[in-house]
Amino acid sequence: MKIFLTGASGFVGKAALAMLVDRGHEVVAMSRRAESDQLIKSLGGRPERCDLESIKAEHLGDCELVIHSAAYVEAWGPKDAWFKANVLGTENVLKAAKQAGVKRFIHIGTEAGLVHGQDLFKADEHYPLAPDSPYPYCASKAQAEQSVMAANSAEMTCLVIRPRLIWGPGDQTLLPAIEQMCERNAWVWINHGKAMTSSTHIDNLIHAIELALTKGEGGEAYFVLDDADHSLRQMIEGMAASKNLELGNKNLPLWFAEALGALCEGMWRLLNLSSEPPLNKYAVMVMSRNCTLDDSKARKALGYSPIISWQEGMAQLGKAH
Ligand SMILES: NC(=O)c1ccc[n+]([C@@H]2O[C@H](COP(=O)([O-])OP(=O)(O)OC[C@H]3O[C@@H](n4cnc5c(N)ncnc54)[C@H](OP(=O)(O)O)[C@@H]3O)[C@@H](O)[C@H]2O)c1
Repeated sequence: MKIFLTGASGFVGKAALAMLVDRGHEVVAMSRRAESDQLIKSLGGRPERCDLESIKAEHLGDCELVIHSAAYVEAWGPKDAWFKANVLGTENVLKAAKQAGVKRFIHIGTEAGLVHGQDLFKADEHYPLAPDSPYPYCASKAQAEQSVMAANSAEMTCLVIRPRLIWGPGDQTLLPAIEQMCERNAWVWINHGKAMTSSTHIDNLIHAIELALTKGEGGEAYFVLDDADHSLRQMIEGMAASKNLELGNKNLPLWFAEALGALCEGMWRLLNLSSEPPLNKYAVMVMSRNCTLDDSKARKALGYSPIISWQEGMAQLGKAH
């Protein structure tokens, strides 16, 4: 199959590209930088210079399927960054795909699209999206998903794969952030990291994406998860241990962390500072809320089940570093 991929220079996109090429697919991948061109070529894909703002049907050529993984995933940034990349960007990719005659559109969503600050306990796909979330990443991913669902049609099947807390070799976000904070002796738990979380090892996500190439209904979303939930502390300490890092026991009670996050964020916005504040409201929310999910739907409809266990993933991560 000829496939167009966005986000190929990212954690998920890179692994998806390697899998697709390995399975014999021809992959055209969005690239906005010379380094990404090189990476995409080295993995056997063809870079196509465009971005989420400029993409047109011509960039997709005769691709039959789109995997849309690119997104602004940062915890901090200019106020409209999430909306521009994730909402308008997704709409641009959908429009280009429709005009190019793409038959199937796989969007990489996230449980964050459901989140407005609440705990989630074994939530499934019936749980409503939160397009008005006060957290711009969450709101933007919810709105993007709504656009994907609205674009589903007889001509173009659109579906959403929703991982939660992706981890494993190649992570460009979470583990590097843990490492950086550890180097500065700045790691602090909130509520002792007791919140429970589901997670998605990168190999499990890539397996789900492969299944979604041919399985799954248009207009549907599917959570894809690891075999067991863990506390955030187990998850993060496990990742840190793979780099021989010790995070220590410094802890903030939730009420204090929330006040501090709001204060830092308010000051940074007020003073229009371009640097990232030491704490923000989104980070406090993510580090303190329970977020466990149910992936029964993907197991039934896609035939999904994890190909690597959480324990194996952690052991493998230790060997990789
Ligand atoms: N990581 C997680 O834990 C997690 C959990 C659930 C869902 N997700 C979803 O998984 C997807 C992939 O995330 P990731 O972890 O792979 O992120 P990542 O490593 O940060 O990669 C983000 C990718 O998006 C591209 N991108 C960002 N803005 C763009 C723009 N305006 N135009 C073109 N490309 C742009 C980046 O390209 P450049 O290299 O050029 O910047 C990069 O390839 C996202 O949709 C995210 O919402 C992630």
